[in-house]
Amino acid sequence: MDEKKAAAEAARLRAEIGRHDRLYYQDAKPVIADEAYDALMRRLRELEAAHPDLATPDSPTRRVGGAPTKKFPEARHLPPMLSLENTYSAGEVREWGERCRKLLPKEDFRYVVELKIDGLAVALTYEHGLLVRGATRGDGEHGDEITNNLRTIRTVPLKLEGREVPGRLEVRGEAFLSREAFRLINEDQEAADEEPFANPRNAAAGSLKLQDPALVAHRHLDLFVHTLAAIEGLPVATHAEALDLFESLGFKVNPHRKRARSLDEALAYCAKWEKERETLPYDIDGMVLKVDSFEAQRRLGATAKSPRWAIAFKFPTPQARTRLREIAVQVGRTGVLTPVAILDPFPLGGTTIGRATLHNEEEIERLGVRAGDLVIIEKGGEVIPKVVGVVPGNRSGSGKAFRMPLLCPACGEPVTKPKGEVAVRCSNPACPAQVKLAIEHYCRREAMEIEHVGEALVAQLVDAGLVKDVADLYDLTREQVAGLERMAEKSADNVIEAVRASRKRPLAALVYALGIRHVGTRVAEILTRRYKTLGSLMKASREELTGIHEVGPIVAASIHAYFRCPQVRRMVARLGDAGVNMKRTKEEAPVSDALAGKTFVFTGELEGYTRPEAEGLVRKLGGNASGSVSKKTDYVVAGPNAGSKLKKAQTLGVTILDEAGFKKLVA
Ligand code: IVH
Repeated sequence: MDEKKAAAEAARLRAEIGRHDRLYYQDAKPVIADEAYDALMRRLRELEAAHPDLATPDSPTRRVGGAPTKKFPEARHLPPMLSLENTYSAGEVREWGERCRKLLPKEDFRYVVELKIDGLAVALTYEHGLLVRGATRGDGEHGDEITNNLRTIRTVPLKLEGREVPGRLEVRGEAFLSREAFRLINEDQEAADEEPFANPRNAAAGSLKLQDPALVAHRHLDLFVHTLAAIEGLPVATHAEALDLFESLGFKVNPHRKRARSLDEALAYCAKWEKERETLPYDIDGMVLKVDSFEAQRRLGATAKSPRWAIAFKFPTPQARTRLREIAVQVGRTGVLTPVAILDPFPLGGTTIGRATLHNEEEIERLGVRAGDLVIIEKGGEVIPKVVGVVPGNRSGSGKAFRMPLLCPACGEPVTKPKGEVAVRCSNPACPAQVKLAIEHYCRREAMEIEHVGEALVAQLVDAGLVKDVADLYDLTREQVAGLERMAEKSADNVIEAVRASRKRPLAALVYALGIRHVGTRVAEILTRRYKTLGSLMKASREELTGIHEVGPIVAASIHAYFRCPQVRRMVARLGDAGVNMKRTKEEAPVSDALAGKTFVFTGELEGYTRPEAEGLVRKLGGNASGSVSKKTDYVVAGPNAGSKLKKAQTLGVTILDEAGFKKLVA
């Protein structure tokens, strides 16, 4: 295809994908199926791979194309990113209103009231409509430049929409995770046996700090824009107008906002949201009140820390008191024992709460809680509420100090505390608690997607002795399932059908479904890019696995040990006999695997490609691009003005290519 035709098609695809992104992510009204969307993306990737100079910075393929960084460059904030003064009562908000009125006695104040999103402040800069910089708040004066990470957020426009676009625009907003995205991240963390995040805010912060944009893209961050920092070329007089303008430029602005004529009206809106906060799919920690007129804002000015024209009205963290019935011990999928507080159920923050986390023995000691105590429970952003203290003088006297059991509460086998680990584990692979969770994990949507098989049914199947490991699922008969309690014929059919259908799941889903420690969905995908079949993954040596970019020694050791276990090998063989797919599907294969397993580092200037373009090309051909040279590097591509990376490559004896050599290699 000639350049011109390709360019026209790429432009058309970009516009089309942009439209669908907006319909899907902002309006929640998708008009095409995921497959059709993926096909558009695939076609655009192909075009850009074949014609590298077509890869414009605003291309949707760029959302995940950036290279990993070792350290983020510094971003200076002009004007500085201030924070808000906090208030905790209507009275304090009225005092703020009085202060404003004293400073500007003639002003007819209007306010805009918004939700205070519990996320992280970021700044986005656009020049001639293109996103050129994204940064964290940092200390307010200097943050981290994380443009490539922010690009992965689907609601951040890479290119502004509309006929009139400001020459330069800087907006500020809040990057956050919905409760659902947070739940998925933590499921993934737990599946990979990593420490879960305490709340969506921490998970969002952890995600933005990731050094590899491809990992960030997996976290499904979102962003509401809430502040105009600088604009050139378009007149805007009020904050309300600015928010409307943001929307017309393609930003996501929180729809729950109100222009109020008085503080009474503003406070009524705050009260409404304090009651209804749980109906939102994300966390808010209060409301923000802003003076609407920019002229009035300018005249009110700011203190060193915060503007005088805005104030935060924070909601209290919901707390409640209840009786702690007992401290139970739960066994996780990988055998870790955790203490949980079993409580007298009570309502808090929109849900009924009957359990709370107690983390570990040390935490219980620190809090000094015992069974029978009246305890204080708090529910911040966390999914699981926590015990934050004991109400003094309420000890019933019956409770003994808690000790971790020496035998697993689920199977009665002795527990172990491996050296160097804090966790106490049950290492009996046949422990029913672990077996049940392993099967539930196998059936999850991100894994083998076996609908109708959830916690309750798995418990029944295991307790009835019908299923001892995941391979047994494929031997289940309709009669066996229908014979279980509360199981109608129709639903038994559904179960059998869902199990059958799971045999066609892609290889990455199977690798994840096995529940190998430290292997979440992301690692499973990386492994699938390298290995065409489960058999070849099973044979991989520890050294070979460690050699894969993004697979560290702990993960490699875990995968290697898992497949050495005779029980596992028998189970995998039975899965194969049952017809479960163990090969990479067409969709999973890289566009080409010409560079499969090869790691590239670019240094110095390139003429024909930008750095992200060259790295994107390597990935499309199945290779990896890294920011630093090590023994794992296969090629260093060095252009003019190459620096220390070239020297290091020479010392390590890594193959060095110039740009022409690289072009030849990828041709
Ligand atoms: S306006 C001068 N509006 O709350 C700061 N902030 O310290 C102007 N936040 O880090 C901020 N939701 O990122 C504003 N609707 C909203 C907000 C909001 C959340 C964050 C903001 C800042 C913190 C307050």
